[in-house]
Amino acid sequence: MNLFAEEDMSRPTEKAIGGNGVCLAEEPPEFRRFISGSAPIMLDDIDWDAVADHPISQDVLRILTYMQDVESHTVVFPTTIFSQRAVNDDIVGTFLVCWLYEEGMHGRALAKFLESAGHPVPERTRKRTTFMDHIDRTTTTIMAAVWKDFLALHMAWGAVHECTTIHAYRRLASMTDHPELGVLLRRIIYDEARHFSFYMWQAESRLARPGVARIARAIMDKLYTPVGTAHQPDELARWVSRCLFDGEEGRAAARRVDRTIAKLPGFSDAALLGNWLAAKVYN
Ligand SMILES: [Fe+2]
Ligand SMILES: [Fe+2]
Repeated sequence: MNLFAEEDMSRPTEKAIGGNGVCLAEEPPEFRRFISGSAPIMLDDIDWDAVADHPISQDVLRILTYMQDVESHTVVFPTTIFSQRAVNDDIVGTFLVCWLYEEGMHGRALAKFLESAGHPVPERTRKRTTFMDHIDRTTTTIMAAVWKDFLALHMAWGAVHECTTIHAYRRLASMTDHPELGVLLRRIIYDEARHFSFYMWQAESRLARPGVARIARAIMDKLYTPVGTAHQPDELARWVSRCLFDGEEGRAAARRVDRTIAKLPGFSDAALLGNWLAAKVYN
């Protein structure tokens, strides 16, 4: 399935610029581009009644259910990883409002697809907020309070996660010929590419000072785990990671994630995803 080429990931369509009156003339074009293009995922033309007519493998269903939960988990982030520094920053704070809405709609779109396919999302038996969320809340609060450049870390972290998400969805799309799922995944990937573009833009400038980049890199080398995995059962997270990022194509996708993040200041020799996979999945 031919989805977005790599170069499309970092260059959301120019036609989004200027189409929305909520942007101010003096705001940076990267910010205006994101805000102007921010909208809930478009689902009007998806033929939900036809979803059940096409076969979906058990593996794809299981991965979709996992991703639906990861997307939906963003609802807790205002109480965990949204620091005071983030919400007080006019650019980042505004971005996060839109980003949260879009991610939440991805979760709902996947839930609707699964329900239409006859495999509704199982009722949650545990609380949405996990033990790791408490850890995230504590570490975010402390680090953001003592480190004025904390947003460099937040933005770099976001860039890695969005880049990983893009490749994860692309790998999932390659595992199915389901026409409606193909459309849905392509639209989600487009949103993830817009998110990635924003985080990368912010991270590049905030990591420009070597001292800041060194601290951010050291923290990520120590604490990084791939998007979603810390809040999911360990075995399930490893199984999904193996499905998406093992084998010839999967490993190539993981290397592309690390190569992309290597463009950030201070990350030229980083292999965050590759190292995690080597330790948890490839062994
Ligand atoms: Fe998403
Ligand atoms: Fe995203």
